[in-house]
Amino acid sequence: KNLIVAFGGVSPEHEVSVLTAIQAISALEESSYNCIPLYVTKSGRWLTGGKLLDLSNYKEINQLENDAVSCAFVKDETGRTLLKEQENSGFFSKPKSFPVYAVLCAFHGSEGENGSFQGVCEMMNIPYTGSGVLGSSLGMDKVKAKLVAAANGIPVTKAVNFYESDWEQEQEDIITVAEDFDYPLIVKPASLGSSIGVAIANDREELVNAVETAFRYDAHLLIEEAVNPLMEINCSVIGTPEDCKPSVCEKPLGKTETLSFEDKYQSGGGGDKGMASADRIIPADISDELTRKIQSLATKTFSTLDASGLARLDFLVNANSKEVYFNEINTIPGSFSFYLWEKSDLRFDKLLTELIEIGLK
Ligand code: DAL
Ligand code: MG
Repeated sequence: KNLIVAFGGVSPEHEVSVLTAIQAISALEESSYNCIPLYVTKSGRWLTGGKLLDLSNYKEINQLENDAVSCAFVKDETGRTLLKEQENSGFFSKPKSFPVYAVLCAFHGSEGENGSFQGVCEMMNIPYTGSGVLGSSLGMDKVKAKLVAAANGIPVTKAVNFYESDWEQEQEDIITVAEDFDYPLIVKPASLGSSIGVAIANDREELVNAVETAFRYDAHLLIEEAVNPLMEINCSVIGTPEDCKPSVCEKPLGKTETLSFEDKYQSGGGGDKGMASADRIIPADISDELTRKIQSLATKTFSTLDASGLARLDFLVNANSKEVYFNEINTIPGSFSFYLWEKSDLRFDKLLTELIEIGLK
């Protein structure tokens, strides 16, 4: 059973994706799957080859890219899909091709997580893990995800969204709407993960600076009212929109009020443990009542946003009033949230097997 593990990608979360993929491959070492890497480089080349399985090789990325072999999905005469090495892949060796059993999508961000790659799999008729095209693209767009969630009775924070051209023409109006909410305000790119480009603004000057910085990352932004005092609680969900279950909850402990990219991926243990190394309390030290409330909002939001397979849903909780707001969904969560499932009595290898089986249905 050739399991194509697809990762990397033209995404600011490229490195995180490499960690997630290597963690998954090593968890599946004793399984019945034969893991074959499909590594998308930062410039978008598709590569395969054994060298891609060793995390230490990514330190010499140019060397790795030279040693790896270009590949593509192709259909053979019988209609089967293969991952095929390119003809020019090696002077002495004949290019290999592998019939695809399923694809484990381990991308974070951009085309790998936003439905584009999922669409390629649909076109090639290959089973793949995680959300489909709609769930993936909806999950990637924070503005649309909030709109659909709110329309279905899921609480979200007040927000205003706008494009770069709006900002150029109607900056005063946008600021007026945003200042109707109370400072501090949160500025975020509509379609990026891992807190990239997210900033807190305490006054108008900081707001304008934060917006201008965030436009470096995305042409579509949102300004949200901050939850104050804030407690972040995340919960993972596995299953299908019709039948899904929540994990235990986690409380991430960011150094600042917003968990930064560095907090998530680069702190602790030299950073090679990915999401698993960030500081967090699992299960979150909150009441059973609040836990149940968040778990039920997590499964409801998962279904509402047409997610499938596995996702992590991030909530903002007012630490005083205990009001809960849906913040975002990660349709391919860092490290597949295995650290949450381990505390929910589901081992990483079993989690991945379940995820693959859902993808095969
Ligand atoms: N987008 C990253 C990987 C996460 O939040 O899990
Ligand atoms: Mg995220």
